[in-house]
Amino acid sequence: MDIKLPKGTKDIFLAEAEAFEQVESALINVAKMFSYASIRTPIFEHTELFTRSVGDSSDIVRKEMYTFTDKGDRSLSLRPEMTAGVIRSVVENKLDVTSDLPLKLYYVGPAFRYERPQLGRYRQFHQFGVENIGITSPFSVAETIALGVTAFTVMGFKKVTVNINSLGDQPTRDAYKQALKTYFQPHLASVCPDCQQRFETNPLRMLDCKVPSDQALGKKAPRISDFLSPASAAYYAQVKEGLKSLSIDIVESPQLVRGLDYYSDCVFEYHMLSDKGLDYGALGAGGQYNNLVSELGGQPLKSVGFAFGLERLIAVLSDSGRLENVKPFTDIYLISMMPETDMYTFKLAHNFRHTNFKTELNLEHKSMKASIKAAVKKEALYAVIIGDQEMKANQVTIKNLQTQEQQLVPVNEVVHLMQHLTNQAGHHHHDESEGEEAHHDEEKK
Ligand code: HAM
Repeated sequence: MDIKLPKGTKDIFLAEAEAFEQVESALINVAKMFSYASIRTPIFEHTELFTRSVGDSSDIVRKEMYTFTDKGDRSLSLRPEMTAGVIRSVVENKLDVTSDLPLKLYYVGPAFRYERPQLGRYRQFHQFGVENIGITSPFSVAETIALGVTAFTVMGFKKVTVNINSLGDQPTRDAYKQALKTYFQPHLASVCPDCQQRFETNPLRMLDCKVPSDQALGKKAPRISDFLSPASAAYYAQVKEGLKSLSIDIVESPQLVRGLDYYSDCVFEYHMLSDKGLDYGALGAGGQYNNLVSELGGQPLKSVGFAFGLERLIAVLSDSGRLENVKPFTDIYLISMMPETDMYTFKLAHNFRHTNFKTELNLEHKSMKASIKAAVKKEALYAVIIGDQEMKANQVTIKNLQTQEQQLVPVNEVVHLMQHLTNQAGHHHHDESEGEEAHHDEEKK
């Protein structure tokens, strides 16, 4: 069979899959700490949703959408990001009317962009994001940016940089676009064809161009900070004050315009080089969007949000060797020594699992030495061995795989004893602590 995975996608398995789950659960915990609730929206939406929100002047809509016509002749697109779908859902379900504001939602899932695959860039990738809908205070913007910074801390990242800028309100951007047009006009013949089009549709996009000569030109362009309306400037100043009060370091980036059309006022990106010195691009990014909810038919609610790229977060963790000991672990490794003890061991495994022990069952009937070796390889805490003798005496052998201590105990006491032993050793085997454990494991390294 020579069917390979599609270009720009990747299979995620074993240690990396485990890392995804641990990172997701750590991020979800942080979101809950900030009092966010979960939302899941469809992976495809009507194409028009994205053209109207992400915007027809954005590269995402112009070049990167997976758009198709379904059997009912509807134009649908795989979501290139989640904000549009979340706000569509909020408006459609009247959550903007019926909820206490701000309405705070988080999400995790795949998104799709037909981009040229490169370091940290895939055609199917995963985002974790938050949307803080219906805010008034600039401190809510600072709080949302701080949520992202907290998430990095919890995941054990070393200092990330927060790049920040303000795109101002509509009057600000109208005035600024005019100034950009005046600035770029004399250079129009020499800029890339994309920028020639951006000049017409949205000159702000020209600052986002990846062509080096266009970038150099953009660096000397007028700065939006000189065009901010008094209201936008005051609001932005307070966002920065809020971040300062939490000792969050920011880098003001007048060049930062973001590639999506729905942004207004404060925008930001999280950046960090990996331990291998690699730049995977923004690890996360977002900003305020003050008109999107009403543009999609809802209340006029100012909002702010951001999304992290999970592949990029995990690549940075991997480069610092932090995924090496990310493994699912086993509490109890049950060994049935012979066919006659299989049923007995099989039922005991079921009991352990119902008592919340992560349990592996070995029915291979190998030598004791080989079976214990397999248990050690699984990094189990205890091996529970059942041979003919044990079964007949209604007993089991418990072996502590760290100390090698071994004891024979009555089978009807084994679950209770294991609970006692694992509690004593401070091992948590309850599911709720999983995210915490991920965090501790990573920190230990
Ligand atoms: P975005 O900057 O387009 O913003 O994407 C957010 C993050 O998703 C990026 O910083 C990056 O980590 C990751 N990402 C984007 N494209 C790819 C790709 N092709 N491969 C791998 N990772 C990628 C948004 O999507 C906005 N919806 C964020 C937001 C939420 N703004 C307000 N609320």
